[in-house]
Amino acid sequence: MCVFALASCGRGNSQGSAQAASPQKLSQQQKQTQENPQKSALAAVEESLEKAEIPSSDLTAIKQRIEASPDRFFDLLAKVEAVAKQDPYLLKRVDKKKSLPQDYEPGDLVLLDKTGLSVSRPGHRLRKPAYEALVSMSEAARKEGVSLLVSSAYRSYAYQVEVFARNVKEMGQKEAERVSAHPGASQHQLGTAIDFGSITDAFAQTKASAWLVKNAANYGFSLSYPKGMEPITGYVWESWHYRYIGTDATALQTEYFLGVQCYLIQFLDARLS
Ligand code: DAL
Ligand code: ZN
Repeated sequence: MCVFALASCGRGNSQGSAQAASPQKLSQQQKQTQENPQKSALAAVEESLEKAEIPSSDLTAIKQRIEASPDRFFDLLAKVEAVAKQDPYLLKRVDKKKSLPQDYEPGDLVLLDKTGLSVSRPGHRLRKPAYEALVSMSEAARKEGVSLLVSSAYRSYAYQVEVFARNVKEMGQKEAERVSAHPGASQHQLGTAIDFGSITDAFAQTKASAWLVKNAANYGFSLSYPKGMEPITGYVWESWHYRYIGTDATALQTEYFLGVQCYLIQFLDARLS
């Protein structure tokens, strides 16, 4: 049975606003809601899923997963939404369609110098929650003989202006847009994104990459631009670029959103904005 019952499981369902406007139907719906609050919650979830830019086959798969274990879904979602309300930038949608203000700079940046972390140069900074998670993750990796080298972390709007302009100069506007974000549209401005290692495709062949693929989610880090997802993310595969979103969010992403960060982030953006 389809548990997305109030909104129905298909698109263009018939229980839309016209029916809801009828007092008789409204009281019927209210009765249903009282009888089964989860049905009502699922209808709201479906509405937000439809607003996210998720291809229909993946949307169906996500709904099926939620349908298979709704209690776990709502438990995780409640935790993630509590985090998002307390710290709105941690799970903020930042991509080609939604940018940060030019003057946005996180208030809790931590300098990574002399922290014991492996860094490519002095001066890298991260937001405190991402820094703390990186310390735990790096210690765990080190115990298994793996070094996680931070090659890029927080980037200000002004710095991203330089990065993007350099790429345009080197490869032209079209290619630059496949590999780098316009100023304001980079997750690096959030202070929670990290580029590891060489920042080239060769990174994917390293022990560090294999370790991250297996373990990063346990520390709240998620790969932002997976292989083969350019039509969805707008960027080529970046095996080195991870964003800290917290462990409840990585669990939600892995268990229900097919492991795709932007599906989860867009869904949350639709729900919370
Ligand atoms: N390389 C990623 C897309 C950035 O510039 O933020
Ligand atoms: Zn990056």
